[in-house]
Order: sequence, then C-alpha cells, then structure tokens
Amino acid sequence: MTSQNTLPTLAILGGTGKEGPGLALRWAMAGYPVIIGSRLHEKAQKTADELNKILESESILGFENGVAASKADICVLTVVYTAHEPAIKSLKDDLKGKILVDATARVDFRNPIPPAPPSAARLAQSTLGDQVRVVAAFQNVPAAVLRKNLDKPLEEDVLVCADDPKDADEVIKLAESLGMKAYYSGNLDNAVVVEGLTSILISMNKHYGSRTGSIQISGIDKGE
Ligand SMILES: NC(=O)c1ccc[n+]([C@@H]2O[C@H](COP(=O)([O-])OP(=O)(O)OC[C@H]3O[C@@H](n4cnc5c(N)ncnc54)[C@H](OP(=O)(O)O)[C@@H]3O)[C@@H](O)[C@H]2O)c1
Repeated sequence: MTSQNTLPTLAILGGTGKEGPGLALRWAMAGYPVIIGSRLHEKAQKTADELNKILESESILGFENGVAASKADICVLTVVYTAHEPAIKSLKDDLKGKILVDATARVDFRNPIPPAPPSAARLAQSTLGDQVRVVAAFQNVPAAVLRKNLDKPLEEDVLVCADDPKDADEVIKLAESLGMKAYYSGNLDNAVVVEGLTSILISMNKHYGSRTGSIQISGIDKGE
C-alpha cells in the first residue's frame, strides 16, 4: 500500500490484544499509516475504531491478518505466543517481500521461565524462508506502558535482533519514532535471550507489584 508520506505502512498482526493496539496507537501518532490485523475482519475493525476514537481520526484501518499483511510494507506480529507457529504458517504467502517484526516472547505470565532455543524469530525465519526478513524486537516493551502517558515518549530500550543489520535498522527507526532507544543486538539466535528477559521482567513485576518493568542499556555510545 503506497502511503501519502514516505513512511512505510505498518500492519500489526494479532493487533487486537494487549500489546498490538498500544504499538498501533503510538505509531499512528508518529505519522505511520497503520493497519490492525485479526483473524476476524470485524474484530480488527472494532479495535481500529477504538484507537481512531482516541486519535480523533479515521487513520487506522482494520483487516483480516492476511489482507493486512499484504497491504503493508512492514508487519509486526503480536499474536498470543501460543499461536506463533500456526500464525506464521498461515501468513507465509502474505508476508513475502516484507520485513516481519516478531515481538513474541514465549513466556507464560503464570509461570515465567525462559524459553529454550531456537528463538521464536529464528523459528519464524526458518518457516518463512528467505523471501521474508524477520527481525525480533519489542519483546520487553510491556503493553501497560504503551497506552498511558501518550503525550510522553517511551523510555524503554529495545533490543533488535536480525540476521542482516540493515533490516534491524528499519526496525530501530520504528522504535526511535516512539522515543525509545534501540540497539542492534546480534542475529536471530540471540533473540531467545531477549525472550528470556521477559521471564525475568514478569518475575520482577510480580515480586515488586509492578506491570511496567522493562530494560535500559548503559555503556553503549551509538554516536548520535
Ligand atoms: N502483553 C505484553 O505486555 C507483551 C509485551 C511484549 C511482548 N508481548 C508479546 O506480544 C504478543 C502478544 O501478546 P498479548 O499480550 O497482546 O497477547 P493476547 O492479548 O493474549 O493476544 C493477542 C492476539 O492474538 C490473537 N490470537 C489468539 N489466538 C490466536 C490463534 N490461535 N491464531 C492466531 N491469532 C491468535 C488474538 O487476535 P484475534 O482474535 O483478533 O485474531 C489476540 O487478540 C505475545 O507474543 C507476547 O509475548 C506481549
């Protein structure tokens, strides 16, 4: 889908849950054309309508996941982690030629333990093949921070893993557009550690009675 501005169109696949709508809202506020994806067109449209009400605009669209993916330049996967494999398989054709940002952290909130390798993003890349460029990011950005203080930039840092750093750069721009610092963090195999960090953050949130624990990196000068 060609947008009037130069920013890529983003599809948030499974964007009807907790994480996806907040990302969609923030990117729409940053000027990106945004599409919500769902297994059901009506559900996607409902979430788009809710977000548009907050934005006082009609800018966010809603479509079934495959249609949303085919209309976008960059797709962001935010389906519940237990649906990661079937979602990836069902969207294989629609994702061809695109960047897929995989935000999946395979951690059960009730029993947080780090997942075993390979990373969800590595599994996605293996299934999707080389016609899709998978980038892992946003696994440590809690849904609870995305929908509040909308007038303030996000303070969380984002670890971005990709086999090609140039693909990571595209996603670093997306994170920076929301005010976050984002860092290239190695290839897709490293993303399993980022998923595991989510287990640590959930455990910390439980212990300290928070919902917004995240990460900030020190000691890296990005030269900006
Ligand atoms: N929640 C957080 O704070 C957070 C933070 C960072 C990363 N993440 C990651 O983001 C992803 C989404 O988390 P969430 O908390 O937003 O999940 P969620 O609210 O439980 O579910 C997100 C969406 O997944 C879709 N879904 C459910 N079952 C499905 C299936 N069988 N096939 C395809 N899609 C299905 C649903 O969309 P439809 O019914 O509309 O299709 C649902 O709205 C997870 O991988 C999670 O690890 C979450």
